[in-house]
Amino acid sequence: MIGNAKVISFINLKGGVGKTTTAVNVAVELSRRSFTDGSKTRVLLIDLDPQSNASISFLSEDQYQHIQNQNTLKELFLHALSPSNKLNPQSFDLTTIRYRLEYLKSRGCHLDLIPCSLDIIDLQDRLTSFRSPHLSPMDILGNALHQLQRNNWCGEQAYTHIVVDCPPSLGMLTMNALSISDYFVVPTFLDQYSYWGLHKIVERMDALRQSKASCNIKLLGVLFSKVDPDERNQENVSWRKKFNSWCESEQNKKNLKKLCISEKIIFDAEIPSYEVIRKSESFSKPLLVYPAEGNDKNKQAILLSKYTSLVNEMFLRMNPKKSS
Ligand SMILES: Nc1ncnc2c1ncn2[C@@H]1O[C@H](COP(=O)(O)OP(=O)(O)OP(=O)(O)O)[C@@H](O)[C@H]1O
Ligand SMILES: [Mg+2]
Repeated sequence: MIGNAKVISFINLKGGVGKTTTAVNVAVELSRRSFTDGSKTRVLLIDLDPQSNASISFLSEDQYQHIQNQNTLKELFLHALSPSNKLNPQSFDLTTIRYRLEYLKSRGCHLDLIPCSLDIIDLQDRLTSFRSPHLSPMDILGNALHQLQRNNWCGEQAYTHIVVDCPPSLGMLTMNALSISDYFVVPTFLDQYSYWGLHKIVERMDALRQSKASCNIKLLGVLFSKVDPDERNQENVSWRKKFNSWCESEQNKKNLKKLCISEKIIFDAEIPSYEVIRKSESFSKPLLVYPAEGNDKNKQAILLSKYTSLVNEMFLRMNPKKSS
């Protein structure tokens, strides 16, 4: 937890499985919810991937060009690496790189974005060898977020959820997210490579929990994404069975019990593969506000209802007694 905010990371070592698309559309859906006491969610989406796909899902090319040289996550890590801060650390003010997604307010969303930039790649190696008496290189993001939440308590309302889109690797950037995450979600395909990929990521997260006492990350669930919407697709049927029996095997049940937040590992909601998602990304808008036309409108409505179901399940798993 960062203050009272639950931190959810979207991760898979496999590329292209829908981590970013899911993180973006889940963050939007999450940011327009209310709790049972009537209070609203407030969500911060952090783009931790140098490819910056989550950032450009919200920002037009012009907007992104404008901020990418001085208002991205790179500034936070550059600040931590600067020699003067090593000896005498001053916390970095994340509000200087936070982007308020005002255009979503009219749709009832309270969502802010911390964008990323490709230049952050050059900092990864320096982070690995970073030594400071005051700060572990894994804790740079967490430290700044704690500061942001503390300041928010005094002024604006604090975030209720922080969603992190991770790159397909376990480098120092990803470790910054995992060390502060309460939960991770694994978007995956229904195929052979993804099946093996799931073993690997679960193994690595288990090892991480055991090696870092303060890390209490739990598996929130596995999401089948980019699923062929044709229900007659027999390959999907058999892969679904295979994933399920892996989760249900006695050995895994025992291991997964420690790691998983709920009895069920795989979400009931599945995200079908529809071209309209790509179109909304090219338009630099999340699905909720993309002006789809013709046949795409139907597909958009189906996808939005899937994200709604997914967020319902996430809410229930995070908070079994309350619901949204
Ligand atoms: N449900 C979907 N239907 C159709 N296309 C999709 C869907 N979800 C994602 N895509 C497309 O698949 C591609 C990969 O998705 P995405 O970028 O979310 O994956 P990723 O796991 O974040 O990739 P990376 O590992 O490179 O960060 C994108 O072009 C995206 O538009
Ligand atoms: Mg991505």
